[in-house]
Amino acid sequence: MRFLSSRRRHPAAKGLLLVLALFTMGALYSLVAPAAQVSADPGTSQQVAKGKALFAVGCASCHGLNGEGGSQGPSLVGVGAAAVDFQVGTGRMPMSRPGAQAPRKENRYTDEEIAALAAFVATLGPGPAIPTPDQYEPKGLSSEDIARGGELFRTNCSACHNFAGAGGALPNGKYAPSLEGVSSKHLYQAMLTGPQQMPVFSDEVITPKDKREIIAYLQTLETRPSQGGLTLGGLGPVAEGFWAWVLGLGSLVGFAIWIAAKGARAR
Ligand code: HEC
Ligand code: HEC
Repeated sequence: MRFLSSRRRHPAAKGLLLVLALFTMGALYSLVAPAAQVSADPGTSQQVAKGKALFAVGCASCHGLNGEGGSQGPSLVGVGAAAVDFQVGTGRMPMSRPGAQAPRKENRYTDEEIAALAAFVATLGPGPAIPTPDQYEPKGLSSEDIARGGELFRTNCSACHNFAGAGGALPNGKYAPSLEGVSSKHLYQAMLTGPQQMPVFSDEVITPKDKREIIAYLQTLETRPSQGGLTLGGLGPVAEGFWAWVLGLGSLVGFAIWIAAKGARAR
């Protein structure tokens, strides 16, 4: 102690103290800091290697060899396995040609190949993992839950997808597709990853149970019996009014032309 206190005012003391303090802080931090976050299923190294090879052939021309992005496609760092499973599973990727939006089409990959591609992209950065069936299958929900799903759908989704899920146009040649016949898994993944113009509905905003309720609601829409008459795509009162206008006015115009033609002949 005497040794230390006698050298308290040494010119190097301050600097030394600072270094010592920083060192202790660093050591303490490394003890209490949480372990680095890893994605739930990083995949086996063999699967990742297979995915990397598939990626080099089918995807790298647009997304870069390491998914870093390029002039033709965005970076895939941190999009997660769920985004790959959704994009490739719905046939959107690989995109065949540049356009306003990658359309849904026939999927060219086997389930195994998609899993490998997803495992590879998951190694690029942490992102949402592929959801499991107990996350996305809407089982054991009461009719109140389904009604709540309808409410959630109308507040969060109907602005783009129409309140019957029939889809709709968006600016710049883009569109929100119809949700009819979309599988529970793809519904869940679309909310989780927010493709293109669609916002991401993270689990904090719309909980996994909320998501299942929305899925259940959409499925009841599909099985709901028709009330009779023309559904007109369930487009609602505005669109139905529009059709009445087109057909009503159209027939009046047709009638006027018919009268004019008759009149001319009569003269
Ligand atoms: C012709 C170029 C092209 C090819 C080939 C291609 N992509 Fe894409 N990809 C794009 C473009 C452009 C987008 C962004 C626009 C879109 O989503 O429609 C995109 C978006 C994505 C997204 C969504 C990213 C996000 O932010 O959610 C994923 C995932 C993806 N691609 C994976 C793949 C995989 C896997 C392959 C190979 C099987 C592939 N892509 C092949 C051009 C391409
Ligand atoms: C701001 C507009 C917007 C909102 C809000 C929105 N979406 Fe989307 N959604 C889109 C667009 C645009 C696409 C097409 C993306 C693409 O093709 O890459 C899409 C695609 C989807 C798909 C994929 C369909 C398919 O054919 O594969 C599903 C499922 C989906 N949305 C569900 C939802 C649900 C459920 C909600 C509400 C929780 C929602 N969306 C809210 C714009 C929106």
